[in-house]
Amino acid sequence: MKAKTGKGNWSLKTTKKLGLPFVFLLCIFFFLAGFFGSTLFFQSQDDVFGVRSRPRPRLRTSLFESAEYDLLPSGETGDESITSIPFQVLSWKPRALYFPNFATAEQCESIIAMAKPGLKPSTLALRKGETAENTKGIRTSSGMFISAAEDKTGILDVIEEKIARATMLPRTHGEAFNVLHYEVGQRYNSHYDAFNPSEYGPQKSQRVASFLLYLSDVVAGGESMFPIENGLNMDGSYNFQDCIGLKVKPRQGDGLLFYSLFPNGTIDPTSLHGSCPVIKGEKWVATKWLRDQDQDDD
Ligand SMILES: *[C@@H]1O[C@H](CO)[C@@H](O)[C@H](O)[C@H]1NC(C)=O
Repeated sequence: MKAKTGKGNWSLKTTKKLGLPFVFLLCIFFFLAGFFGSTLFFQSQDDVFGVRSRPRPRLRTSLFESAEYDLLPSGETGDESITSIPFQVLSWKPRALYFPNFATAEQCESIIAMAKPGLKPSTLALRKGETAENTKGIRTSSGMFISAAEDKTGILDVIEEKIARATMLPRTHGEAFNVLHYEVGQRYNSHYDAFNPSEYGPQKSQRVASFLLYLSDVVAGGESMFPIENGLNMDGSYNFQDCIGLKVKPRQGDGLLFYSLFPNGTIDPTSLHGSCPVIKGEKWVATKWLRDQDQDDD
């Protein structure tokens, strides 16, 4: 009893000695310390789990992904990791995507080196009434076809796989790569990649989309152009040689994907495109046409 009283007396005495303002400040200090302390604690919880108080499984393949995503178990043919392929929507009319740094400079240089010995003047799919002679000048590049299987370096295999992931169109739906070379003045007048049956006759399969991988920079000119993007230049004055509309400047390693067909399978008129003449330097590009039918069935 005595001791208790004594303690009580001591605390009272101390309070009296230090004064009420000090006790008041002490209370404020502990209140603020507690408040900010708890805030910090919850913030760090957020950082770790992304979503508060939801623990995540630790089954992940890379550090980067584990910090950002909570992956699901994949199906038999799926991936156990996240694929990150940055892109910019260039246009909805036509549906066109730009993929910066899709391939490395080394990959591009290797593809150019493997294509060089096989280059031949590019040809056109001819419509009724067209001949090689009367279509001269429409497409003046040279090129060659090479499939991923033919490339012993394995580079085209890697690129093809990446294109399939970016488009979710299976690799078996792609034609062989068409590697093209444009020198100063060389061009490709505006055209469609899809084949309109009324012009080209019945088709076994149709080109759905085109993926262009720019293998080189071009000093000047050589842009890919979509002259009637979003309904531009449709007043009837458009000349198929004009380099106008949406222009995409080739940069080594960058990719361009555009769809020639609407989701309902009809040809998108705004997918009309061409290659502006090279003004300075040279242009190298690898094109992959993606079809609606499995190409292995042919
Ligand atoms: C297909 O889709 C386009 C774009 O949405 C539309 O303009 C066109 O009328 C459609 N054609 C058919 C046959 O459904």
